Amino acid sequence: NKLTISVIKADIGGWVGHSAIHPRLVEVATEELSAARKRGLLIDFHVTACGDDLQLILTHRQGVDNEQIHKLAWDTFVKGTAVAKELHLYGAGQDLLSDAFSGNVRGQGPGVAEMEIVERTSEPVLVFMADKTSAGAWNLPLFKMFADPFTTAGLVIAPGMHQGFRFEVHDIREHKKILFDCPEDLYDMLMFIGTPGRFTIKHVFSRADGTIAAVSSTERLSLLAGKYVGKDDPVMVVRAQQNFPAVGEVLEPFRYPWIIEGWMRGSHYGPLMAVPIKQATPSRFDGPPRVACLGFQIADGRLIGPRDMFDDPAFEEARREANQVADVLRRHGPFEPHRLPLEEMEYTTLPQVMKKLEGRWEKL
Ligand code: 13P
Ligand code: 13P
Ligand code: MG
Ligand code: MG
Ligand code: MG
Repeated sequence: NKLTISVIKADIGGWVGHSAIHPRLVEVATEELSAARKRGLLIDFHVTACGDDLQLILTHRQGVDNEQIHKLAWDTFVKGTAVAKELHLYGAGQDLLSDAFSGNVRGQGPGVAEMEIVERTSEPVLVFMADKTSAGAWNLPLFKMFADPFTTAGLVIAPGMHQGFRFEVHDIREHKKILFDCPEDLYDMLMFIGTPGRFTIKHVFSRADGTIAAVSSTERLSLLAGKYVGKDDPVMVVRAQQNFPAVGEVLEPFRYPWIIEGWMRGSHYGPLMAVPIKQATPSRFDGPPRVACLGFQIADGRLIGPRDMFDDPAFEEARREANQVADVLRRHGPFEPHRLPLEEMEYTTLPQVMKKLEGRWEKL
């Protein structure tokens, strides 16, 4: 009897600006999902927010990419958008890119990370949520979690992990995928995942038994909409313990504030700061980018939790360093490497400026 964990998220309006979510949106989503649990579609759910993104964490037996589950999420976002409009929240309905649901939320704006599993006797699961960044932000932490023995001791000393992990990497520009078996394919894989704007780690599998260890959302809003519509603000689900990294090994990569793209107007590099949910409210220069993590023990599909995993003084140094890195980068203002290279900015006045200056350029 397989269990599906689905995390589906969307920005349906910010409070205030892009910094957080209004509690009414959480209430509306909770009402919708309670009704779905009552009628048996869901086993359990948890609603939360990371920055201005509404997060629906669902368990059910419908499998991944299920139309009923995706429709439930879509309808919940549409209901929430109505409330966001009433309250004049910022960018109400921002991530809902189409007017009508067409069978699946993929390609319609919301972010999705889903995995179907056979629930273990004890099933610790960690749900990561980021704001003010995009899908590739998970590449480096996923690499460290599942392939770096200086992060994950189990790769060396745990019999169920010593064979390593298999990574499924997507080329989101050419729409193709490849499997890398680590450790032997490590150097080949790094060639690609080091460019997270194009190559993203979608799934990780245990090589001991083939089971799924992690899944991330890889939607790119700007590729879907053809214009800037906010950052993708990705999510990821990771299973822990036994043949997978221990909970503490899964969290360890977030000890350092990795520099990722996102932040103000989706057009800057900034440090990813690991925070408890109550601090996942990016306000300085609309950032710096945040990552929050909720932990659950799953019991016959029920979500026993959440535990707010970064609500631990052991991550205070990570946050302090993130603020220091933020200061160093902010000083550069509109200069690279704080601002993204011209071609990669989500937001640009370049065409207008070029047009205005057309007659003023002279040949050298
Ligand atoms: P415990 O002895 O607390 O169960 O810890 C085991 C472990 O693997 C920690 O990473
Ligand atoms: P969001 O994708 O979180 O809405 O961020 C948009 C933005 O432009 C922040 O400055
Ligand atoms: Mg927003
Ligand atoms: Mg957001
Ligand atoms: Mg966004």
